[in-house]
Amino acid sequence: MPSGFKIIIKDNPAQLAKEATDIFAMTARDSITRRGRFVVAISGGSTPRRMNRMLAEEPYRSEIEWDKTHIFWVDERCVPENDPASNFGTAKKDFLCKTPIPSTQVHPIPGLALPEEGATLYQADLEALFRPTENDYPAFDLILLGVGRDGHTASLFPDQRSMETSDRWMAVVKGKDPDVYRLTLTYPVLNRAKQIYFLVSGPEKATIVKTILENRQAELPVQKIQPSEGTLTWLLDKEAASLLEKVGGP
Ligand code: 6PG
Repeated sequence: MPSGFKIIIKDNPAQLAKEATDIFAMTARDSITRRGRFVVAISGGSTPRRMNRMLAEEPYRSEIEWDKTHIFWVDERCVPENDPASNFGTAKKDFLCKTPIPSTQVHPIPGLALPEEGATLYQADLEALFRPTENDYPAFDLILLGVGRDGHTASLFPDQRSMETSDRWMAVVKGKDPDVYRLTLTYPVLNRAKQIYFLVSGPEKATIVKTILENRQAELPVQKIQPSEGTLTWLLDKEAASLLEKVGGP
């Protein structure tokens, strides 16, 4: 890992979720003040669900300017929206259907289309909003990522070395759990973000967190997340951070 990252450790998953929700709200406020809109990409998995539910509660529901907010996803499984494995379906149930965000500003990855077609459609959706200059990538205001126990993030898995040199915006990969096609944003898009936060919780993540942060030779997908101009922050709970030497572990 490069030296340019920050670690925040919270006492428990509830406090981690509260901190993440505050970061979401604060970044929304700041981005809207500076640029008139807030564009965020969120992850699936279980860790962000508490934060997602809090976003639909007060004071966040009223304070966030949802009419100036755009929600994208970092990855999606190619399953129907009502499948529990659908990142969009889960987020819709947890908070999107309970907040006044205009439906045109919710940008699910088309998980039902043929995967390659879905990738092309999503890139077009991103291009329409960001209109980046030639050879540039969309620069999200905020990207919230998770970490798998094998060191994957988004749907960027350890056994896909070819992804490391890809200059595409979106990629189609085959996931393992569940065993379905997935669509994912790629390294150059993730690394173009203005702010990236990893949200990691629970004792089952302690070993991988230690490897990622203390073994630079591990060559894990997570370690390829190095924002070119933005900031990188690790938001951990105590259990996920429990094996880290420099922050009071063994
Ligand atoms: C997904 C993800 C994935 C996730 C990690 C961590 O859609 O599955 O984007 O990268 O963030 O697997 O998942 P947990 O939060 O469930 O541990």
